[in-house]
Amino acid sequence: MALQAAAILPSALSILKEGKSKDSTFLGISLSDHVKSDSIYTSLRIKRESKQRKFAIRPIRAQAVVEAPEVNQAAPAGKKTLRQGSVVVTGASSGLGLATAKALAETGKWHVIMACRDFLKAERAAKSAGMAKENYTIMHLDLASLDSVRQFVDNFRRSGRPLDVLVCNAAVYLPTAKEPTFTAEGFELSVGTNHLGHFLLSRLLLDDLKQSDYPSKRLIIVGSITGNTNTLAGNVPPKANLGDLRGLAGGLNGLNTSSMIDGGEFDGAKAYKDSKVCNMLTMQEFHRRYHEETGITFASLYPGCIATTGLFREHIPLFRLLFPPFQKYITKGFVSEEESGKRLAQVVSDPSLTKSGVYWSWNKDSASFENQLSQEASDAEKARKVWEVSEKLVGLA
Ligand SMILES: NC(=O)c1ccc[n+]([C@@H]2O[C@H](COP(=O)([O-])OP(=O)(O)OC[C@H]3O[C@@H](n4cnc5c(N)ncnc54)[C@H](OP(=O)(O)O)[C@@H]3O)[C@@H](O)[C@H]2O)c1
Repeated sequence: MALQAAAILPSALSILKEGKSKDSTFLGISLSDHVKSDSIYTSLRIKRESKQRKFAIRPIRAQAVVEAPEVNQAAPAGKKTLRQGSVVVTGASSGLGLATAKALAETGKWHVIMACRDFLKAERAAKSAGMAKENYTIMHLDLASLDSVRQFVDNFRRSGRPLDVLVCNAAVYLPTAKEPTFTAEGFELSVGTNHLGHFLLSRLLLDDLKQSDYPSKRLIIVGSITGNTNTLAGNVPPKANLGDLRGLAGGLNGLNTSSMIDGGEFDGAKAYKDSKVCNMLTMQEFHRRYHEETGITFASLYPGCIATTGLFREHIPLFRLLFPPFQKYITKGFVSEEESGKRLAQVVSDPSLTKSGVYWSWNKDSASFENQLSQEASDAEKARKVWEVSEKLVGLA
């Protein structure tokens, strides 16, 4: 289990430990300052003065490869077969998103719209995964820009494709960052990308999902064990905690308000965990507001510890070297990208996973089960507040 990593890895690495440093953790795993690469810090330490210059760059023009939408095919017996489903997967250029896109595309039953910020990277990834050209389309989406999110929605609508399932998967994780970095609109990058970008995207695309005639329409927001303080992993500092949302309400800009949701000092690992709590709360708020009226299934999941993905790209080299074998051979919580992709593909398309408002997990035999969220990640009042504050920040209220 991934949560065991939280308990074991620190002691496994204790020889290198110099003292706890809140900004060098994953699942609360601390590594010593003296093993951190200076060059990593130098490149990561983006000063507030350079923020505007760096993040004021407008998103590149959206690129879309648009193909004709699928139509219902008549089966030989004259009966209509189910048309190909149309699924948008954000962050499908690597890791879980790519593995999910591949798993869905190779069934031939799904056309995957890979919503990615790097068009060429996504194209190369799809090719090297062996995805057949007719089963995917790449469209530009940068979740760290609300303009880009709106442009993506326009482009998607212009493509004429139906939307049957939306998967909010993309994320950034900045555990070693000393200073916050920001989205185009000036929100702290982790919460701005993982939560606010997806919040706007899913709110705008809800209308498209409603219009779908597909038998099972779904909106899936990827969660994480690390945001759940009812687990060992979620209990290792820095713990997720949204507090009274004072930082979020202030816009997370780090100028006249904190860059952290709870109003505290910047901590990249905590910002990621907080963003995941927002993801899980948003899914439940969607369920409460729209499931009955629309029939859409809203779900979240913890795909397992996929220790090899690019999510850990900003972590120190030693961590990246040791984390996969540690998960494989010590905690045995390791999940391959392929397996995690199958899990998420199940949540997209398995007829037995239509229950709404659920946070799915998998046991060691890879069987799915409804998992319990922590108190904060299932707090209905907090979910309502996060929803309302987020609406204001993304310009929907
Ligand atoms: N790995 C794990 O153990 C684990 C565990 C629990 C949950 N998760 C969740 O799984 C999901 C996928 O993570 P992963 O492990 O597969 O990591 P990953 O390989 O780094 O994938 C993240 C994806 O998000 C994309 N992305 C980042 N910023 C973006 C932006 N501004 N706009 C659009 N796309 C953006 C990345 O695009 P680029 O390729 O252009 O960088 C990449 O495709 C995340 O929601 C994560 O929280 C992962």
